Amino acid sequence: MKISIIGAGYVGLVTGLCLAEKKHDIICVDNNKTKVKKINNGKTIIHEEGLDALLSRNLNINFRASSNLHRAVLKTDVTIIAVGTPFNGKSIDLTYVKNVSKSIGQALYHKKDYHLVVVKSTVTPGTTDDIVLPIVEKYSKMKVGEKFGIGMNPEFLREGSAVKDFMNPDRIVIGSNDKFSAGVIKKIYKPFTKTEMLLTNNKTAEMIKYANNTLLATLISFSNEIGNLCATQKNVDSLDVMKGVHLDNRITPIINSKKISPGIISYLSAGCGFGGSCFPKDLSAIISFGKKKKQKMQLLNAVQDVNQSQPMKIIEILNRSYKNNLKEKNIAVLGLAFKEGTDDMRESPSIAIINKFIEYKANVIAYDPVAQMEAKKILESKRIVYAKSIVSAVKSAEIIVVLTAWPEFKNLHNIINNLQLEPLIVDGRRFLNKKNFQKYIGIGIT
Ligand code: UDX
Ligand code: UDX
Repeated sequence: MKISIIGAGYVGLVTGLCLAEKKHDIICVDNNKTKVKKINNGKTIIHEEGLDALLSRNLNINFRASSNLHRAVLKTDVTIIAVGTPFNGKSIDLTYVKNVSKSIGQALYHKKDYHLVVVKSTVTPGTTDDIVLPIVEKYSKMKVGEKFGIGMNPEFLREGSAVKDFMNPDRIVIGSNDKFSAGVIKKIYKPFTKTEMLLTNNKTAEMIKYANNTLLATLISFSNEIGNLCATQKNVDSLDVMKGVHLDNRITPIINSKKISPGIISYLSAGCGFGGSCFPKDLSAIISFGKKKKQKMQLLNAVQDVNQSQPMKIIEILNRSYKNNLKEKNIAVLGLAFKEGTDDMRESPSIAIINKFIEYKANVIAYDPVAQMEAKKILESKRIVYAKSIVSAVKSAEIIVVLTAWPEFKNLHNIINNLQLEPLIVDGRRFLNKKNFQKYIGIGIT
């Protein structure tokens, strides 16, 4: 099928390249011309495992980027909207979605054949039917069902494993208002024969995305609240407590005498808080949407509150250890990205933590295997030095704070032993073995 995708960001580019790999003809449109140029020169821009290989295999064969939305819509049968939907402080900001809906409508005015518009951006319930649809109708001067259809197809891609997630989907949610449009979306996903397709209406599809992400965010904040309580007591480690919880066979079922360890347990672990481009903004958007609908959203408000204060637990730990005096302390920060496997710094807990170190006049030596370039755009101060390697980051540090669970940090104890150092390790992700360190402290443990 010929498909145009509007927005060549994390979601749009991954979707475009994966669909190209499945033999669809893809034009990825972005209004950022530099981005378009780079993609057409074979550079994916973002760090995402497997994406470079997909680009080099498909570029100029059945994939290309463009900044001409109008032409891309005219040349394709389906247009997928994948522009960002940030939170503007009060509610979801649909400016980009509205702008591209208008441009799509204007292009469709010139099109003779049937066209399907699919919303993939995360949008609050009702956006596809009550905002995107009327805009496309207005500018195309057509009624939905005549020569165009509309659908909603949320993404469930985790940054860092987005290509894998796309290629091996756990489900495909297809929202639409008519059978024909649903059939077209099903056709797009025909290569994914083994995957369960959930057919529903647009609003339900929109709601599924929020229910899913806010559930995962809730598990994390729950674990953090329990972890913070564990840390108030001697000899109670949240890691052991949560391990005991994970073994509940409703969480870890035993099938044919084998324990099936589900992915969900990794969200049931204490840490320095969640971040990224989705969980924080999705929570804010759905809370504000709920309030508009006269729902108190008490639980999700609490999930957000716990998360907002969680990075400061790292600061509390250090303030206790150093009697509120971090001035001129050399602190190595290992990990800047909001999680491993990505260079994305959006809403990363490292930002609030490092800014606090700077406020307290500590010296920060920061290291991240891939997010350093992104971090430099956000975290700039004469008190921050970016190290080239993990060894140069830690060699003069009194304190080492680990904020992202990059696999290469697992070897930290060997590096420290070789350098004969005895720094205090502050494990913000609880993924290091505490027995390997002389001085170790972390989230969820005293
Ligand atoms: C996406 C979704 O769209 C968002 O709703 C979802 O919740 C998370 O994933 P993401 O891919 O992370 O967002 O966004 P981003 O990386 O910011 O990419 C959006 C792209 O759209 C950018 O490249 C931007 O230049 C482009 N864009 C934006 C347009 O091409 N046109 C516009 O009018 C606005
Ligand atoms: C999320 C959704 O998982 C995905 O389905 C899609 O809807 C987009 O939003 P993403 O934000 O890329 O994906 O990553 P995810 O791995 O879910 O991480 C989100 C946050 O949860 C991060 O801050 C991460 O550190 C935290 N997390 C993640 C955990 O605490 N434990 C985990 O096991 C995984």
